[in-house]
Amino acid sequence: MNPVVSGPLLAVETSCDETAVAILSPDGRLLASEISSQIPDHRPFGGVVPELASRNHIRLLRPVCERALAAAGMSAASVGATAATQGPGLSGALLAGFNFAKGLATALRLPFVAVNHMEGHLLSPFMGAQVTRALGLVVSGGHTLLVGIDGVSNYRLHGRTRDDAAGEAFDKVARLLGLPYPGGPEIERAAAGGDPTRFAFPRALPNDDDFSFSGLKNAARLAIDKIGTADLADFCASFQEAVVDSLVSKSIAVALREGFPTIALSGGVACNARLREKLAAATGKAGLELLIADRSVSADNAAMIGHAALLRLQDHGPNPQDFDADVQPALALGIFEPLSASGT
Ligand code: KG4
Ligand code: ZN
Repeated sequence: MNPVVSGPLLAVETSCDETAVAILSPDGRLLASEISSQIPDHRPFGGVVPELASRNHIRLLRPVCERALAAAGMSAASVGATAATQGPGLSGALLAGFNFAKGLATALRLPFVAVNHMEGHLLSPFMGAQVTRALGLVVSGGHTLLVGIDGVSNYRLHGRTRDDAAGEAFDKVARLLGLPYPGGPEIERAAAGGDPTRFAFPRALPNDDDFSFSGLKNAARLAIDKIGTADLADFCASFQEAVVDSLVSKSIAVALREGFPTIALSGGVACNARLREKLAAATGKAGLELLIADRSVSADNAAMIGHAALLRLQDHGPNPQDFDADVQPALALGIFEPLSASGT
């Protein structure tokens, strides 16, 4: 990465329940990445409470920022630019981090970059490498997207979920099982040693590029009503397999049909070992390359926001309008062509 800022870039991410600050050198090396998770605060409520998240961000931003500066061995005075997540996300939570980073840039007279959280995820498999033509599979708690990448800022949406996101399906089914939030890692743990063929869960829209997980969620609900949590390992393994099969089969089909040589996997659900394993096997068989975001930058983090910000600066320099920009909680797919009227 060619240096485009005079000093390290400080990036902030507060779109949901993680307060995260990262520092990247002007040539893109990660100098520090601090993440303060609020999961224990939200767990008693079974999901993220927006008001609680905003208040926690306001309280935590300064100490997390100071921890990141200390880890990078520098002071705020040496920062060369700041960046923050503009959306999508919870409005109050976004406001806390966006205004913190914007205020810092204003006070220190630095460039400020507003970053789309989904672009942060999308480009995270390319950290430390060149961005090459690829089909991005972004699987998080709020989104499930198949995005063609033809270089930085050149994206095209090929598929998305028509209802629940993959992570959301994990979270909702975990809740039905009485497992704690967030449900994805809990279901993965409970699935260990289980038989993934025991329950015949549906794989929706087999001939479509879009995803759908609400039918699967309902099938899971009916099965739980019938058998309770008696066969938890088999149940979780079968449910996980259904989600993973949908993600893998559609990504491979679209990549082959559209001539993408690479699949780039990102988002919190990319931490799932079964998904990584099955996607690796399927891409290998299809002769495709697979890039997976490092686990440390798969779930929400500020390093991916800083990485996307540096790439944007490199692509078209600082945009002074970012200082006038407001947070955009529904900024889901605006950067991905063809533009769509609503988010997922
Ligand atoms: O990207 P992320 O940290 O936040 C959003 O932008 O949404 O993704 C969080 C989602 C949650 O739904 C969580 O349950 C899911 O990622 N997740 C997993 C795993 N780890 C996190 N899903 C399945 N298996 C996992 N190991
Ligand atoms: Zn995310």
